[in-house]
Amino acid sequence: MSGNTKLVMSAEDIAAANVELENKSAEEVLEWAITKFGARLALSSSFGAEDVALIDMMWRIDPSVRVFTLETLRLHTETYTVMDQIRARYGIELEAYYPDMDQVNEMVRDNGFNLFYKSEEFRKLCCGIRKMEPLNRALGTLDCWVSGLRRDQAVTRVAIDKVELDAAHDNRVKLNPIADWTSDRVWDYIKANNVPYNELHDNGFPSIGCDPCTRAVTPEEDPRAGRWWWESDPNSKECGLHVIETLDSIKLAAEKNR
Ligand code: ADX
Ligand code: SF4
Repeated sequence: MSGNTKLVMSAEDIAAANVELENKSAEEVLEWAITKFGARLALSSSFGAEDVALIDMMWRIDPSVRVFTLETLRLHTETYTVMDQIRARYGIELEAYYPDMDQVNEMVRDNGFNLFYKSEEFRKLCCGIRKMEPLNRALGTLDCWVSGLRRDQAVTRVAIDKVELDAAHDNRVKLNPIADWTSDRVWDYIKANNVPYNELHDNGFPSIGCDPCTRAVTPEEDPRAGRWWWESDPNSKECGLHVIETLDSIKLAAEKNR
């Protein structure tokens, strides 16, 4: 947890906001939130298709909008390339949050550099240290974080609202402006606005995470089948950013699994 316990919106306010915003466009949802939260709002970006589309939309509303990324140190070269392209195109200062190197060191020393292939517990430990802990630090500066989650991406995401109270992160507001978009709609937006995107998307990667944990998929496969492809349970295919689980409980499960 990041230590901010201030409730910026009540559960009733959130419910009312969803009634107001569910049928509004992504741009209208973003405008509402950017006006309300200003510099206490930022996009959490992995620079996948959804996120680059959101960057374009947000920048058009407010060129000084904040964008942060969880730089796990295991990303694809192509992902770093699109980060630089986005910086050049929009003049946005990307806020990169890196893992705590003492924790990385200990994890790798105890369990190996490629520990994620050994068990789900170790995979979650790596995501916990490389993504969840840095996310908590990023959220320390925010009242509202924006994500590119879509309902049709995964069984774990079908019920997301456009505006949520994020119980895993001290009840901050979490905004999912394109919750009701399809992948085709994201790509229509990218093409229509000539938004820079990760070239891996043209090579069979509909969903992109870290390099060692993402592979290309065939057109017949589920778009997220290439994420942690060696794990079979679709209910656990999350890296910890969008679930209610603490790093402490993940560390405990990994310890038991050693
Ligand atoms: S994941 O949980 O499986 O990795 P996915 O790749 O679908 O998530 O991305 C969903 C959303 O999570 C993105 O739109 C973005 O808001 C956030 N996200 C995922 N990875 C990162 C990252 N490395 N840095 C910042 N935000 C991220
Ligand atoms: Fe570690 Fe893989 Fe998770 Fe990246 S996606 S943080 S390399 S387990």
